[in-house]
Amino acid sequence: MKINNVCILGAGTLGSRVALQSALSGYKVRIYDIDPTALERSRKTMEKIILHLAKSSGLEESAGLNAIDLITFTDNATNAVMDADIINESVLEDIEVKNQVWELFGKIAPEKTIFTTNTSYLLPSMFADISGRPEKFCALHFHDVFYSKVVDIMPHPGTDANLIPILDSFGKSLEQVPVLVKKENPGYLFNSMLMAFIGAAGKLLTKEIGSIEDIDKSWMVNFHMPKGPFGILDNIGLDTAWHVTKSQPDLASQRFAALLKSYIDEGKLGEKTGEGFYKYPKPRYRDEDFLE
Ligand SMILES: NC(=O)c1ccc[n+]([C@@H]2O[C@H](COP(=O)([O-])OP(=O)(O)OC[C@H]3O[C@@H](n4cnc5c(N)ncnc54)[C@H](O)[C@@H]3O)[C@@H](O)[C@H]2O)c1
Repeated sequence: MKINNVCILGAGTLGSRVALQSALSGYKVRIYDIDPTALERSRKTMEKIILHLAKSSGLEESAGLNAIDLITFTDNATNAVMDADIINESVLEDIEVKNQVWELFGKIAPEKTIFTTNTSYLLPSMFADISGRPEKFCALHFHDVFYSKVVDIMPHPGTDANLIPILDSFGKSLEQVPVLVKKENPGYLFNSMLMAFIGAAGKLLTKEIGSIEDIDKSWMVNFHMPKGPFGILDNIGLDTAWHVTKSQPDLASQRFAALLKSYIDEGKLGEKTGEGFYKYPKPRYRDEDFLE
């Protein structure tokens, strides 16, 4: 099966990026959102990304802006999905919203359309049935698209195995590195490893075995990394980390979740609010003498 027409559901942070990369890769793209202001924001976000790519990666600015002009931005679901060979869904990470969306698109999408979701911590089997075509349903989970170029392909037990090579080629055509998650797993491959790493750092801190700076230094020096687990947490956002950590039932996670919550209650969510474990824009771990 050849993919020509791509339909993106949800014009937020991730949907905008997947739509833009699809357009830059020569696909015909339609992006749908229930909220017209999100569609306007999406176009502006794409323009900013193009300007950034023009400076950092040598992309020709006019070619990038032309690619955006070829994208259809719409709040009309039927219009969004007409001709779609594949849907990649990036709506809110909420089971009820995703169920509503997949129930609707299961009814109005052409028979040929492959259904893929970007859910971060839910599982494709949670909405595969409601879409009415579980065999054509699979997680295709992008990360940042332009900076972190890994895409997880994660089938659920009812996914047709023939879909995997199609999604693999599609991922490669978008300049991503596809990886197969053979069994459904919340957090796929990378996020599972990342949360274990972050959880270990949290445990060292809440058990008062090491300080924030020393835990980070230990990681940074050993692996020659620009930041350690607490610098990474500031980048992810302490609110996001708290949502994931508090859902783990073990005592160590609950203790760390309580610590994260105390930062959140003070408005310290990380880089996006100017302060988390460190203060931004000049966090201590970037100081020249930090590792001395
Ligand atoms: N942001 C990331 O870096 C990232 C990375 C990987 C996966 N994801 C996943 O992608 C999905 C979207 O995340 P995001 O960060 O882009 O969220 P976001 O909040 O930036 O965007 C979500 C969009 O969904 C729209 N929406 C809500 N209800 C809708 C509906 N019924 N129909 C159509 N659109 C609707 C909202 O208007 C909003 O524009 C989530 O499942 C998230 O877990 C995000």
